[in-house]
Amino acid sequence: MNKKKQSIRIKIISMGNTEVGKSCIIKRYCEKRFVHKYLATIGIDYGVTKVSVNDRDVKVNIFDMAGHPIFYEVRNEFYRDTQGVVLVYDVTNRASFEALESWLSEMKAEIGNPSDMDNIVFIVCANKTDQKRQVEESDGRLWADAKGFHYFETSAQTGEGVNEMFQTMFESVLAAVENGGKRQPLGTQLGYTREQAEAIQRLKAARDNHERLGLTNGASKDEINKAFRRLSVLLHPDKSVAPGSEEAFKILVAARTALLKGSR
Ligand code: GTP
Ligand code: MG
Repeated sequence: MNKKKQSIRIKIISMGNTEVGKSCIIKRYCEKRFVHKYLATIGIDYGVTKVSVNDRDVKVNIFDMAGHPIFYEVRNEFYRDTQGVVLVYDVTNRASFEALESWLSEMKAEIGNPSDMDNIVFIVCANKTDQKRQVEESDGRLWADAKGFHYFETSAQTGEGVNEMFQTMFESVLAAVENGGKRQPLGTQLGYTREQAEAIQRLKAARDNHERLGLTNGASKDEINKAFRRLSVLLHPDKSVAPGSEEAFKILVAARTALLKGSR
C-alpha cells in the first residue's frame, strides 16, 4: 500500500521595513493577484495555506508582520517557534536593505533562545525588481550568502520569483524538520566561501583603507603586505566566482597602494 506521509504544520513569518512589499508577496502567492494601493498591515495579519511538498501535506501558518516601528510591541510576541522567515527589502530603497541586520537583531532579542536563530530557514527577498534599483543584485546576494541565507529576486507585481521562493521555503523547512529541527547548511551550493563573501562586503562598505584591509591605524609595511596577500588569494577574479570579486579586488589594490605610500 502506498502510505502517504503524515501531514505537518509549519510557521512562517514575514519581516522587513514598512512598504517593502511583504503583504503583496504573500498575496501574490496565495491569491495570485497584486494591489497597487498601499494598505499598511496593522500589527499582524494571519493566514493559512495548504500545500503538498514531497508527497506530504503541509499546513502553512503565515504571520505577516507590520514593518512600522510602532508595531514593535505587537510583533515581538510572534517571533517564537518560527521555522521560516521571508526577509524582505525593496531594491529601490537602500535604507530597507541596510535595515536587514536590525530586523535580525529584533528577532534574536525576542525569540527566547537566541541560538534557535541558527535553525530557522531565512530567505532574503530583493523585492520590486520591476522598478529602477538602488541596490544591485550582487550586494543583496553577498549579504545573504555571508549569512548562509537563501536569496531570491522577486516582484510581487509581475510575480517573478515568488512561487520559486515559497517552494524553496517549504522544502527547506521540511528538510530541517526531517533533520531533527536542524537547518541544513547552504555553503556547499555556492561555489565560493562565506569568507570570500565577507571580505567583498567589507572592502565595499569600509570607511577607510585600514578597515578595508582589516588593519588598525599605523600598521607597518609588512602587515599591509601580509593582509594584501591574504585577501588577494581570496579575491583574485581568476580564482573567485563570488559576485563583486572584480570590483572588490580593484578596491583592494588601490587601498594597498595608498597605504604603502603613507607607511614607514
Ligand atoms: P507594511 O505592512 O507597512 O509593513 O508594508 P508591506 O511590506 O507589507 O508592504 P505592502 O506589501 O503593503 O506594499 C507596499 C507598497 O509597495 C504597495 O503600494 C504595493 O503596491 C507596492 N509593491 C509591493 N510589491 C511591489 C513590487 O514587486 N513592485 C512594485 N512596483 N510595487 C510593489
Ligand atoms: Mg504589510
